Amino acid sequence: MASRALRIFTVLGLETSCDETAAAVVRGTAPGPGEILSNVVLSQIEEHRAYGGVVPEIAARAHVESIDAIVEQALAEAGLPLGDVDAVAATAGPGLIGGVMVGLMTAKALALAGGKPLVAVNHLEAHALTARLTEGIGFPYLLLLISGGHCQLLAVEGVGRFRLYGTTIDDAVGEAFDKAAKILALPYPGGPKIEALARQGDAKRVALPRPLLGREGADFSFAGLKTALRQIAARKEFAGADLAAAFQQAVIDVLVDRSRAAMKMFSRDFPESASPAFVVAGGVAANRAIGEALSALARAQGFAAKIPPPGLCTDNAAMIAWAGVERCQLGLFDMLAAAPKARWPLTARLAGP
Ligand code: KG4
Ligand code: ZN
Repeated sequence: MASRALRIFTVLGLETSCDETAAAVVRGTAPGPGEILSNVVLSQIEEHRAYGGVVPEIAARAHVESIDAIVEQALAEAGLPLGDVDAVAATAGPGLIGGVMVGLMTAKALALAGGKPLVAVNHLEAHALTARLTEGIGFPYLLLLISGGHCQLLAVEGVGRFRLYGTTIDDAVGEAFDKAAKILALPYPGGPKIEALARQGDAKRVALPRPLLGREGADFSFAGLKTALRQIAARKEFAGADLAAAFQQAVIDVLVDRSRAAMKMFSRDFPESASPAFVVAGGVAANRAIGEALSALARAQGFAAKIPPPGLCTDNAAMIAWAGVERCQLGLFDMLAAAPKARWPLTARLAGP
């Protein structure tokens, strides 16, 4: 174990679980920080824009068309031939199954051709470990994972070891942003558009609910907020900017309240952990107003807020490669038979395959 901890791994990572075709090369050793040698992300936003959301069939086809060139570019920018990487990592789930299959199959082919081990990465674990890639923080820490498909509060005790404190009982927060954007006739993807519009609005002009605020536990709910926004927007009494600001503020209030509750649970479970890290990861963590509110909460509660830079919060392959580094270090390699999974909750696998 001790000798493994000192070994530096160089890993090629592939990400294809949603609408980004991405490949990256990362070098490092746990607990980080790691070195990003290349990080190539090709967004499919233009392909999906006309449909107002990601179309799985179009996404899978676009991944097939570009993955080879993206991998070549990632290796070229890193200045490494495939022979010089220690392992090939790819998202094996959760995500849109067609896209996951493209990335995982490509990784298997590269692993086989290059004689390299394969690491089948859980996309959520990759988001969860990104703060170690960027800042080298130690376990345990509290994680708020806020993305298009997920909204969870977890204690991260180690690679593959998570303790769930709260989750959404309906929509994920990114999904709520995307649906709110549709209601306000903003183009896909909605999160950044709502954030920009909210900056010009006044949240106090519009009253929206704060679902589950103050409730026991640390679960979330956003469906009622979205419905309330739809009803108020239909009355056409308020400016879009005020509606966007009110929506974002309601989300912030809920995220802060639920995170505060989870901080209490974390402090109870890990009393020896002084000034623990509070990591905010996933695409929605790119939202500045949300980041500022959560940083202020962390300061008040004795936690150290860690929010990766926006390009590493939204989907990327550097986080997949880093999760690969962490798993290589523990000898957690996968067989070439590793199956793609549409659903793969973080708490389903404790350590390794
Ligand atoms: O993590 P991510 O890139 O993909 C998933 O794994 O889901 O997250 C994408 C989500 C989308 O719902 C997008 O609208 C949201 O993150 N998002 C934002 C912002 N940037 C991206 N939501 C709010 N504010 C933002 N600035
Ligand atoms: Zn993601």
